[in-house]
Amino acid sequence: MYGMPQMVQERSAPPATLVIFGASGDLTRRKLLPAVDTLARHGRLPDQFALVGVARTPMSDDQFAQSTLGGLGGRDLAEKRQLAGGIRYVAGGYDDPDTYERLAETLGELDAVRGTSGNRLFYLSTPAGAFEPVINGLAAAGLNRAREGSFSRLVIEKPYGRDLATARELDAVVHHAFDENQVFRIDHYLGKDTVQNVLALRFANSIFQPIWDRSWVDHVQITVAETLGVGTRGGFYEHAGAMRDIVQNHVLQVLALALMEPPASFEAEGLRNEKVKLLQAIRLPGDRDLADAAVRGQYTRGGTREELMAGYREEAGVDPLSRTETYAAMRLTVDNWRWAGVPFYVRTGKRLPARLTEVALQFQRPPHLPIPDDQLTGLDADALILRIQPNEGISLRFGAKVPGHSFRVRTASMEFSYDQTFVEESPEAYERLLLDALIGDASLFIRSDEVQECWRIVDPIIERWEKDDSPIPTYEAASWGPADADRLIGRDGRRWRNTS
Ligand code: BG6
Repeated sequence: MYGMPQMVQERSAPPATLVIFGASGDLTRRKLLPAVDTLARHGRLPDQFALVGVARTPMSDDQFAQSTLGGLGGRDLAEKRQLAGGIRYVAGGYDDPDTYERLAETLGELDAVRGTSGNRLFYLSTPAGAFEPVINGLAAAGLNRAREGSFSRLVIEKPYGRDLATARELDAVVHHAFDENQVFRIDHYLGKDTVQNVLALRFANSIFQPIWDRSWVDHVQITVAETLGVGTRGGFYEHAGAMRDIVQNHVLQVLALALMEPPASFEAEGLRNEKVKLLQAIRLPGDRDLADAAVRGQYTRGGTREELMAGYREEAGVDPLSRTETYAAMRLTVDNWRWAGVPFYVRTGKRLPARLTEVALQFQRPPHLPIPDDQLTGLDADALILRIQPNEGISLRFGAKVPGHSFRVRTASMEFSYDQTFVEESPEAYERLLLDALIGDASLFIRSDEVQECWRIVDPIIERWEKDDSPIPTYEAASWGPADADRLIGRDGRRWRNTS
């Protein structure tokens, strides 16, 4: 069958009610409602689908339906009516038992009129401070348990705690009300097609596996670079910083997929077991070496005369003396048979010169080059670059003979581009994840032990930074981060990619 095109069964949601807590919030408007819209448009939601918004802001069902359907434009009237028939809004405080009683009534009513079969997906899209009261409120109203043959599931946005201790506390609250198999912790990076393609490249092919280890790989660089600053999220970001906001979740998830052992299948438990094993093998440097293993930075005013960008401390909601890092880089090692001795460099930052997320495996130089050095100008080490975004695709970089009478070798590149290869379009990460949660497929969601391992890795570094009262290193907006980051990798005789 291999290689023969077959009809793939299209996935669609079962009858269910999606309940969004934080319904008047930014994430709901920007990501969740558009995802519901597209899923409905593509026929992934059944007629027996309902949507309930819960938030403190007073609003009627009609007003919420209007604001929802306003965002769900371009439909004919019958379609709008069909959707609107399943939209409700419950206004109330998250710690008020009455909110959950009214929610329970609404859900019962929807089961009766809409045929949603008692299936509920509770989506926590609130600030993290509301997670605990909402979970307790759901449990007190008995909404954490579904009746026989139905489901009750909880989707939780990040941040999942702010360190290992608080993640464990949150887990205790969650597990008091829900079993782990009812819990879907979101990392939207896992919803990206190109992140899932790391799995396809590694495990649906045979040619990469033999070179995917310490015998061939010199080192790996993972970059999540953003051109944007903190924008309007200064207040939130002040309490997060780059390490908590991006490294603890997105970067370590991508790293785990790129380095883990082959799972027997992509079924949720098998896949997540392999990620956990890999994360457990990540070694933290000892206390004395921590300073050399991680660097941070904060952007200052910069850019060009045409586009001058404010410094982080000048952004709205940011303390003018803030010590929050907007850039973080780390050197990690993985203590296992496959990766012993191979360094992994990861970095992320806001206000860098390019938006770019990639995983780059750099291979070792050949053991002997039968070519004089002066014929090798412009020859870099071989590399395989997985471009997560933008220009989604893969590059294989290698040396090729330069045309001409002499034997000169220069770096060339073989390119695979999603755009040029497929006519199919990539769904938005939230579409994919929302559909998976409705279906009950947890493969692309984070298990409790994964979250804890990720905090174990970043906690000592954050703690060290928080204790350190020396001035935070800075970098100009639109530059590639603080000079310390170059020293971090330079100490090993290596350089960051794309930093010229
Ligand atoms: C979010 C972070 O999780 O990811 C943001 O909180 C960041 O600070 C965003 O900008 C990046 O996501 P993407 O999909 O644009 O790479």
